Amino acid sequence: MQAPKGTYDVLPAEQERRALLEARARKILGAAGYRRIETPAFEATELFSRGVGAATDIVQKEMYSFDDGGGRSLTLRPEGTAPICRAYMEHGMHKLPQPVKLWYLGSFFRAEQPQRGRYRQFWQIGAEAIGAAGPETDAELILLLGSLLDAMGVKGTRLRLASLGNPETRSAYREQLTAYLRAHLDELSAEVRARIELNPMRAFDASDPGTRAVMAGAPKLLDQLSADDAEHFALVRELLDAAGVPYELDPTLVRGLDYYTRTLFEFSSDALGAQSGVGGGGRYDRLIEQLGGQPTPGVGFAAGVERILLAGAEQPIAPEPVDLLVALADRDDRVSVLTAFDLAHEARQAGLAAQYELYGRSLKSALKHADRINARYVAIVNDPLHASLRDMDSGEQQELEPSRLIATVLRGSRLS
Ligand code: HAM
Repeated sequence: MQAPKGTYDVLPAEQERRALLEARARKILGAAGYRRIETPAFEATELFSRGVGAATDIVQKEMYSFDDGGGRSLTLRPEGTAPICRAYMEHGMHKLPQPVKLWYLGSFFRAEQPQRGRYRQFWQIGAEAIGAAGPETDAELILLLGSLLDAMGVKGTRLRLASLGNPETRSAYREQLTAYLRAHLDELSAEVRARIELNPMRAFDASDPGTRAVMAGAPKLLDQLSADDAEHFALVRELLDAAGVPYELDPTLVRGLDYYTRTLFEFSSDALGAQSGVGGGGRYDRLIEQLGGQPTPGVGFAAGVERILLAGAEQPIAPEPVDLLVALADRDDRVSVLTAFDLAHEARQAGLAAQYELYGRSLKSALKHADRINARYVAIVNDPLHASLRDMDSGEQQELEPSRLIATVLRGSRLS
């Protein structure tokens, strides 16, 4: 049996780097006042069709939806922003001091074609600031994501930035773009042609040369922002300039979610190949209202954990220390088994990293095993009153009562 296509196991050897990412995220985001939130792995399907947008690829073809047995449709979460907005409303977080600053780390699900860096169950680390409308919040989230990628040693990053303005400007622009695409119908790929009415912006994403040539001359939304939106965007850029964060303006930046307003950003990395987007986000000032709440601004980001780890530096990981391995001189002696087993338990309760030799190795292979796991001491239990304690660094061995052994190891591991 194998794991389903597009999923993978996170084996013990990979846990350290993931734990490091979590620790760095907690430090970087925690220092800026973001607190962790966890939402369920599945939600009402409607949350995503209303939140992420019915015309998006995610909602149209990538959701794992199922009937809950009572005629309600549920969906494994494909992203975290809509669920967090739901939680903000459900828990009356508008009564807390604003903005409410949250971060999350968890797995998400999209029925995509798997390839390197693209999975059907993947992990995201993300942050959302809900309740603040000013451009400082946008810039802060971009800086925080940049710091996190830096801290993980993600190589060859590039930041692209755009503004989508507000939905009114956007729908006027959409009509203009649709008319432009219709005027160039023959030069477009069949796929783009089929989606003109549904989502004309996606034409900027197309890779075929015909469509790309048409799109090079297409009208750009960035040139048509309202005065307020243009001012907001100018301030975001000034804040990034002042912080010394390099970015490229990309008027064709498209992200596969419909809730964005104003600022939109994406970090990519050369180290990733085709799936180069390592993390991105933007402002979503209408989302909460769209989900039935009071008008509430918000901005956030999410980054792919697998992509951070693929593009990130190998971090020197110290092996977990083992203070003590408890082995037996004679495995057939029931009383010494009880003594040794209890000794390992007591040692752990005393705060030591202590392992009991579970596999039934001979004394000789137990010592080899102790070397392999880097144990500081090995206790060889002879009977309830006699044990030997071997210092694996010096090779010295002393005879003592099992009851005195823990204190000796504690003293020794504190000294070393
Ligand atoms: P997104 O761009 O769809 O944004 O996903 C964020 C990141 O998740 C991507 O940059 C990528 O690294 C990773 N990712 C997405 N799909 C996959 C996949 N199939 N396999 C592996 N990694 C993947 C969002 O999800 C928004 N909620 C971000 C956001 C937060 N916007 C505002 N706040």
